[in-house]
Amino acid sequence: MKRRIGLLTAGGDCPGLNAAIRGVARAAYEMFDETEIVGIHDGYRGLIEGDWQEMKREQFSGILTLGGTILGTSRTPFRNMRLIEDDNVDKVWAMKKNYEKLKLDCLVTLGGNGTHKTANLLSEEGLNIIGLPKTIDNDIYGTDFTFGFHTAVDIATEVIDRIHTTAASHGRCMVIEIMGNKAGWLTLYSGLAGGADVVLLPEIPYDIEKVAETVEKRAKGSKPFSIVAVAEGAMDKKEAKMKRRERDALRQENGFSGIANRVAKELSQLVGVEARAVVPGHMQRGGSPSAYDRVLSTQFGVHAAELIRDKEYGYTVALSGNQVIHNKLSDIAGVPKLVPPDHQMVALARNIGITFGD
Ligand code: F6P
Repeated sequence: MKRRIGLLTAGGDCPGLNAAIRGVARAAYEMFDETEIVGIHDGYRGLIEGDWQEMKREQFSGILTLGGTILGTSRTPFRNMRLIEDDNVDKVWAMKKNYEKLKLDCLVTLGGNGTHKTANLLSEEGLNIIGLPKTIDNDIYGTDFTFGFHTAVDIATEVIDRIHTTAASHGRCMVIEIMGNKAGWLTLYSGLAGGADVVLLPEIPYDIEKVAETVEKRAKGSKPFSIVAVAEGAMDKKEAKMKRRERDALRQENGFSGIANRVAKELSQLVGVEARAVVPGHMQRGGSPSAYDRVLSTQFGVHAAELIRDKEYGYTVALSGNQVIHNKLSDIAGVPKLVPPDHQMVALARNIGITFGD
């Protein structure tokens, strides 16, 4: 049995991409008499522009623990895929042409929501596609977890832990901005793991007065410091009623410099405590994957190879309970998995006294 497989990683990187690439490759080399793998550079850009390399088996060795992606990545927004821009390139046509030119049996796309939307588009255009769900945001529909998420939870938790001790020493209110523009999973999990007092999520608009009440109560109590974990996409109740464009314009007008800075400033004014903002940023996406993510990425990669063996295309791999499954790309593409405000983890957090500011 021979298989010629294309691999690409698209969108924001995350720990575990190389482990998943390795999983696909190792399983494919084991499963098929002849395996050829083409590494496409920088996500869909490489497929559009014809930028790739024939991979050698050794290139998949020693990458299990490596952060980032050996193939490079880029963001080519899905909304622009059908748009002919100044360069006059029909991107979908170019991707199909290059797929044919490469004589691929299938293309494995490792990515988040945007990547999956384009993967589904290519599948609808007749290409053999298999998706693998990566993102620190954990916001892909149909999978309990994406790879990269748990590593980011570990990193963000370590940040909160370290901030915790200095916050306690100085009696300060520390506001930590956690990645996640639309989905608050990372903030929720790391906030729980790091013992945050307040957790602010994009899905649960907050009232700063309510947050201030919690901080004030603590300031006057036996533990005069507070830890606020705020998702980068969190918004207050007034903003939540606005259209995104309107909200962005208003924020720009008010000199918005990130949600943590704003929350810290407002809390200083309302409570009179010393409040500081901390933004760990891309640190949350860098470095080696955790043991959990190494295993999950490998499981996902191997399952992708099994689908390739069985010529089952048009799917993305997923975790359901303890089972690795696959979902139809058409069922999950364009459906973000946000934190339901009544999710059991939110209820759990409320039960231990965490405030969401709602
Ligand atoms: O999707 C992962 C993510 O890290 C989000 O949490 C964040 O909002 C975004 O990517 C940042 O993207 P970029 O690295 O392109 O600034």
